[in-house]
Amino acid sequence: MTEVRKQRILIVDDQSAHTVALCDVLRQYQFDAEGCGSAESALDLLRSEPFDLMLSDLNMPGMDGIGLVKAALQHDPDLACIIMTGEGSIATAVRAMQGGALDYIVKPFKASSLLPVLARAQATRSLRMANAELERQVRQNVMELAEANHRLEQARLAAEHANAEKSRFLSNMSHELRTPLNGILGFAQILAADKLPATQLEKQRFARNIVQSGQHLLKLVNEILDLARIEAGKVPLAMEAVDLPTVLQECRMMVTPLAAKRDISLGFGMVPQKSLRADRTRLVQVLINLLSNAIKYNHEQGRVAVDCSAANGSHIRISVSDTGPGLDPDQMQHIFQPFHRLGRDEEEEGSGLGLALTRRVVEAMQGAIGVESEPGAGSTFWVELPLAPETTQREQHA
Ligand SMILES: Nc1ncnc2c1ncn2[C@@H]1O[C@H](COP(=O)(O)OP(=O)(O)OP(=O)(O)O)[C@@H](O)[C@H]1O
Ligand SMILES: [Mg+2]
Repeated sequence: MTEVRKQRILIVDDQSAHTVALCDVLRQYQFDAEGCGSAESALDLLRSEPFDLMLSDLNMPGMDGIGLVKAALQHDPDLACIIMTGEGSIATAVRAMQGGALDYIVKPFKASSLLPVLARAQATRSLRMANAELERQVRQNVMELAEANHRLEQARLAAEHANAEKSRFLSNMSHELRTPLNGILGFAQILAADKLPATQLEKQRFARNIVQSGQHLLKLVNEILDLARIEAGKVPLAMEAVDLPTVLQECRMMVTPLAAKRDISLGFGMVPQKSLRADRTRLVQVLINLLSNAIKYNHEQGRVAVDCSAANGSHIRISVSDTGPGLDPDQMQHIFQPFHRLGRDEEEEGSGLGLALTRRVVEAMQGAIGVESEPGAGSTFWVELPLAPETTQREQHA
């Protein structure tokens, strides 16, 4: 059986005989009653113990009943206060109610008339508390709803953005695929048409064009497939410790002919004897993409510099700087998005997928990529990749 908690009531009256008698009576009616001789001692008690009700005399030496009700309610707004008053001071009792008392009772009174007053005050108190709790819950629900709405709106915007990006990707892709395909069809139709006079030399030129367009188309399709596979997380990465000096030397050998063809000087700074944690083939792909861009988008007799530095404690930053045209802030914003060729379609061959692929590959290897540039002065593309665990350990033990 659950035990019903007794109501705690504080009786405040400067006539101690009256207080004692009232406490006795109320205890008989299952109240947990305590008595006090002044408003000041009542306030002390209220601050140290919780009470449900307070029954206070109106006129007392020192602080009167009205002052006590106001001070008590400041401490505990839920306390149910009732004023006891003499026949002549009912108007003052009304003032006490305006100050926060729930009810008043005229002295002298019998227990039979006090009990309904206490019950009413208690019922009002319970109602007010339930109401306050309800209001708190409503406020909390409104807040939670607002938060959920905000999250939903964010998700909707993200989905809209992703959808717009996909549509842009598809339309760019169709355009990029159509160009070489039209070239192949056009030249093939000329070759197939018996009526068109064409010399053997012209026929060979047409055939070369078909092969070139076919190769470009194949590169595009392969890169698009690679991009889609990486995005779907379907590319298995063979993560291993890759020796940094060896891999940079390998890349240097690979891009030297392209740099020589364009009269670009290649400079490699000090390379630390460290190993990176990476997929070797993918790391080469990343570095070749950055190096070939730095060579392709450079001025004649320009320079390309590769530098390595420690980054982020356990990472290495590889920077590829060029003396090319550089990028403005708007171009930098779009540079890692697929098919953004920044108006270089005519000048240089390319599909506009190199940097988009590079970024995804770097991020799949737990690395980061970025660019710093000043229009007219050149650009620096950098990648940061984690050191292989053995290297970190060796350094710590050294
Ligand atoms: N180092 C650079 N300096 C100036 N512009 C650059 C540089 N690197 C890239 N860009 C610009 O960014 C565009 C996108 O480069 P990205 O490597 O993604 O594609 P791409 O070089 O055009 O083609 P590919 O897919 O063959 O690499 C380039 O077309 C070029 O306009
Ligand atoms: Mg490129």
